[in-house]
Amino acid sequence: MAVFNVDGVFHALENFCASGGSIGEGELHGHIVTCPLDGETYDVRTGISPISDAIFVKHFDARLDGSGNVLVRLEPTEDEDERP
Ligand code: FES
Repeated sequence: MAVFNVDGVFHALENFCASGGSIGEGELHGHIVTCPLDGETYDVRTGISPISDAIFVKHFDARLDGSGNVLVRLEPTEDEDERP
């Protein structure tokens, strides 16, 4: 799981890119994270590449609770079989 904080809003993605890169170790610019291995990019709000809807990783709902803990729902937000 890779968790991102974008201006206080938390997002979580599967931390496993197509060729095994760790998305959580990538650079984040705005809502776009770049995989450190081969440079694929993903929108942390959806898990979908801004280049192509056919490239994606699982996205999970995440939020901060009142105690400062990040809570992540372990069910992906969308079935990947239903992606465009
Ligand atoms: S493993 Fe992420 S772009 Fe190749």
